[in-house]
This record gives sequence, C-alpha cells and structure tokens, in this order.
Amino acid sequence: MVWAPLSGPDLIANPADAINVFDFEPVARKNVPPAHFGYMASGIDDEVTLRANREGFAKFQLRPRRLNDVSQVDMSTEIFGVTWPSPIGIAPTGGNKAYHPEGEVAVAKAARVGNHLQILSTPATTSVEAATQARGAPIWFQLYASPSWTVAQALVKRAEAAGCPVVALTVDRMAGRNQETLERLKRTDTRDCKACHMPGIQNSVRRKPNYDGIDLSGLRSLQSANLTWDFVRRLKDSTRMNVVLKGIVTHEDAKLCVENGVDGIIVSNHGARAEDSGRSSIECLPEVVDAIGGRIPVLIDSGFRRGTDIVKALALGAHGIFIGRPYLWGLGAFGQPGVERVLEILRTELRVAMQQVGVRSLKELTPTFVRRAG
Ligand code: GLV
Repeated sequence: MVWAPLSGPDLIANPADAINVFDFEPVARKNVPPAHFGYMASGIDDEVTLRANREGFAKFQLRPRRLNDVSQVDMSTEIFGVTWPSPIGIAPTGGNKAYHPEGEVAVAKAARVGNHLQILSTPATTSVEAATQARGAPIWFQLYASPSWTVAQALVKRAEAAGCPVVALTVDRMAGRNQETLERLKRTDTRDCKACHMPGIQNSVRRKPNYDGIDLSGLRSLQSANLTWDFVRRLKDSTRMNVVLKGIVTHEDAKLCVENGVDGIIVSNHGARAEDSGRSSIECLPEVVDAIGGRIPVLIDSGFRRGTDIVKALALGAHGIFIGRPYLWGLGAFGQPGVERVLEILRTELRVAMQQVGVRSLKELTPTFVRRAG
C-alpha cells in the first residue's frame, strides 16, 4: 500500500524534510486511525485499477527536446476564463476531518497559499461557505446528485449561492463497492466506530454540513444509480454554473458530453475507488482528448504523484490535473503545512520536469513530447 520507491526506515518529522509526496503516507498512516486511513487508501476488489493508475504512467515515455532556453518557465493554465499559476488542483475527497481536525479548512488554506484550484466534495466535513471563506476565492463544488432531483437541486442552489462557478457532477459512482483494504484495517481499529457511524442516511450526514436543511427522507442511498443524460441536461438548464462531468473515460461518453452541452470533463476513475476495470486514468486520456477536439476543457485525476506524471497528461492534452490521496497524506501527517508542502513539491517537480523536456509553457507541451512505450 505504501508506494514510496525508496522510503527510509525513519518517518519524516516535519514537512520540510519530505523528499517527495510519498514521504507523507507512512506518517499519515501512523497518525490517522486505521479505519480512516483504510478508507482513504482503499481501492476496490483486487485493486487492479489502483495499481494501474500508477503503472499507467510508465506506459508513456517522454521525448525531451534539447537546446531550448528554459531558464524561465510559466506553468499557468486557463480554465473557464480563470488563469491559475499551475495546473495542479485539489480533487474532491469526502470527510477530511477524518484525517485531521481542521479538515477541509486546512486544505483550503493550503490551496490558498499556492493559489490552487480546489473542488469541495458534497460529503465534506466543512460547508461550502466555510471552505470558500478559508480558500479566499471561489471553489468548485463536486456533486453527488443522489437519486432525487429535489436533493440535487438544493445542493446546486447552495453551491451557487456560495459563489461556486463550476459544479463537477460525479458520474462514476453508481453502485456499492467492495473496499477490502478498508475492511481489513477496520478490524485493527480498536475505537468504537459505531459511536460515530450509526446506520441510516440521516446519521451518515450528521457531520456533512452541505446536507444541512435538505430533506433526505425517502432516500435509501446518496449515490445515484439512476443518473442519465436527461439529468445532465436538466442540471445544465437549472444552473448558471459551468457543468463538468467527473468520471468520463471513453470517447463515446466524451462525445455525448459535448452533444449534451457539458462545459468540461474530468477524466477519472475516482482514484480507483469506483470500479476495478484495470484501466488507468492516463490511458483513457488520449481517446477522450481526441473525441473532444478542443471544444471543451479536459481535466484529469487518479494516480498523479510526480511532476513527470503531470507533464505526460498535459502533453496528451489535459488542461489541468487534480490530486487526491497525496494531499490527504499531507493533511493526516501535518495538517495544513503538510498539504502546503505536498503542493509545493509537485509544483517544483512540474517545473523541473518541464525544463527537462525543454518547454517553457504548457502551450508548448504537445503530444510530440510523449510516445506510447512498447
Ligand atoms: C468518495 O467519493 C469516495 O470515493 O469515498
């Protein structure tokens, strides 16, 4: 489960000691209760997709060009008219207070330091208003629509009122899932989990303030097995926010996104937490980019840990990437300073990787910088 290529026997004592983002994972594992760590670390079933998300990057090789002056590098990217100093964003992850008492507020403050785009999860343990305030700028809202239009609409209205410019509708978590790593680590957790995790929808959202005041009676699940393109069109018609679909992995669905008026795509397999297809997110990117043909922005998450991972995705046509587990490792290890350092390491690695391949800006990173290995 620990991915570090050469992690030493000693855990880092402070964020500045981290050599790479992997250094935070064992510290988070030491600090965070086993069941919470297991929830974050878990893929599903055989965790084939979890491994594929890392191994997929090795299937693409970089083709560095020489003799370009790369003394000045501009990592900025524009998404929906906003320029971000780097293409590295915070993916939505639920329940951040499970990893550190300051939860999403610590994450938002860290994102503010490096001016990173942040997406807040529907089941966050901080409200969209409080996270926006901590971030000091508009954030995007990830939507678990639930099976009920009324619930979805209430969540969307709340995000809109909080100033979110974008709603990222999750379309890849329709069903239940078998999280074996979670189940195993739960058994080693000696705390009384039932005290917090009581059965029933209403109990499951007790610490999820984005649901406050929303009538969930009648719902048996917060996941939406009933989502269709009709829902997407209805969502589009009901909000001023840009609508991004998170979880698109095929050219067929990418085309349907454009046909149905979607404003952007996040190529994602939900950090391997939603299906064990065995296909990495980076391997899905080329067919999606090809189908979109530059008409709407294509973003990507799932498995990003290195500057070179980011360079490969950008060269293959992504406008930005998101990280999930690495910032939760930073959060669980050291709170806000840990998240700040994770983001700083990735910015540094990205700058260096761009220099190594000989590009000064993301515009220069074209598909010719990547070849499929083998
Ligand atoms: C939430 O989105 C999760 O994967 O647990």
